[in-house]
Amino acid sequence: MKFLKGALIVLVACMFFFCEGAGGPGEVEVLHWWTSGGEAAAVAVLKEMLEEEGHTWKDFAVAGGGGDQAMTVLKSRAVAGNPPAAAQVKGPQIQLWGDEGVLTNLDDVAQAEKWDELVPKVVADIMKYQGHWVAVPVNVHRINWMWCNPEVFKKAGAKIPTTWAEFEDACKKIQAAGMIPVAWGGQPWQEATVFEIIVAGVGGTDFYKKALVDADPAALNSPTMVEVLKTFKMIKQYTDPGAPGRDWNLATAMVIKGEAGMQFMGDWAKGEFTAAGKVPNTDYVAAVAPGTSKQFIFNIDSFIMFKVQAKNEAAQKAMARLILQPKFQEVFNINKGSIPVRMGMPEGPFDAPARLAMKDFSETSKTGGLIPSMAHEMAVMPAIRGAIMDVVTNFYNSDLSAEDAAAQLADAVKAAK
Ligand code: BGC
Repeated sequence: MKFLKGALIVLVACMFFFCEGAGGPGEVEVLHWWTSGGEAAAVAVLKEMLEEEGHTWKDFAVAGGGGDQAMTVLKSRAVAGNPPAAAQVKGPQIQLWGDEGVLTNLDDVAQAEKWDELVPKVVADIMKYQGHWVAVPVNVHRINWMWCNPEVFKKAGAKIPTTWAEFEDACKKIQAAGMIPVAWGGQPWQEATVFEIIVAGVGGTDFYKKALVDADPAALNSPTMVEVLKTFKMIKQYTDPGAPGRDWNLATAMVIKGEAGMQFMGDWAKGEFTAAGKVPNTDYVAAVAPGTSKQFIFNIDSFIMFKVQAKNEAAQKAMARLILQPKFQEVFNINKGSIPVRMGMPEGPFDAPARLAMKDFSETSKTGGLIPSMAHEMAVMPAIRGAIMDVVTNFYNSDLSAEDAAAQLADAVKAAK
């Protein structure tokens, strides 16, 4: 009797736990860095969908494009033993969090929703730790874009460039007409973004892979890298004195307002044009950056999920499930400027730049031109990225020669390996 009574208490307690705990409404604290107009509109969709299912979204937004600040904050919360339920973390870093043993296994959601059939294998592999799903991919961003204001080009009598020589010619004309050729955000991650576009555009795909994926010292300290660095530094004379420290979305606003001719930036910049009510190929032109039409530098946003109290498990898994649902993939990516990571989504609702990105994503995945972004944490471990970014930013903001910077790149990477 006594034994049975005990068992009953356990059973009732389990039922209570299941209803009020693991299965019921809960809260998800979500760390992200989506704070610009377009980004905020995009992430609001996820919040709404989660709330429609009765859960609570606790917003943990850490401002700072590229996410470096967000990663610092995440580490300190994790060290304090109090990580959020979900955090925007990308690429190889997911493995580092996996090593810590702090992530929620999402295999049950993945199996129920057939994630392995819904996303490309190359993406699924990034999201798994030791074969288990620990992260959910959100989207695919392309980095190698140049956002242009056609009015500025028209006033200057310039043409939208497809080569670096044409680019310089256009810059000279825009400058002579009294406008700023290039809207520049002087922050290390933004400088690294432009740098990697030039590594692809001047060095080509194989060179990009050797230099920024394999971090091969021979490629980093090479005549090709010297040429890349010179092209990169050439742009500086076509930027304005307000560039240092400028946020990326403020640089985008300069193009939107017609103060500047163009900006090199990933397609989250398109989210800003969309939020401002601008129409592609009318109010602005989304051009692939010079020399990179056969390349797709990819950047995939994803969320890792940390182990949470049982009462919040259902909410956390609901968030994971919702991210790959067609409705979210469509509305979020339209606002964000990216393309769906879920395969087989209809192209109809997407604009011309997104359709071009979809086509190029699929083509470059067959030709080898699909290459991971170094600046956006997809290519190398954080220590190597940091080493490359320090040299690139120091080179851009000092009188260091391209030859010395190339040598420093190789040395810095060797030390970081
Ligand atoms: C992220 C984007 C974000 C951008 C600017 C990138 O690293 O992948 O989602 O919009 O940084 O903050």
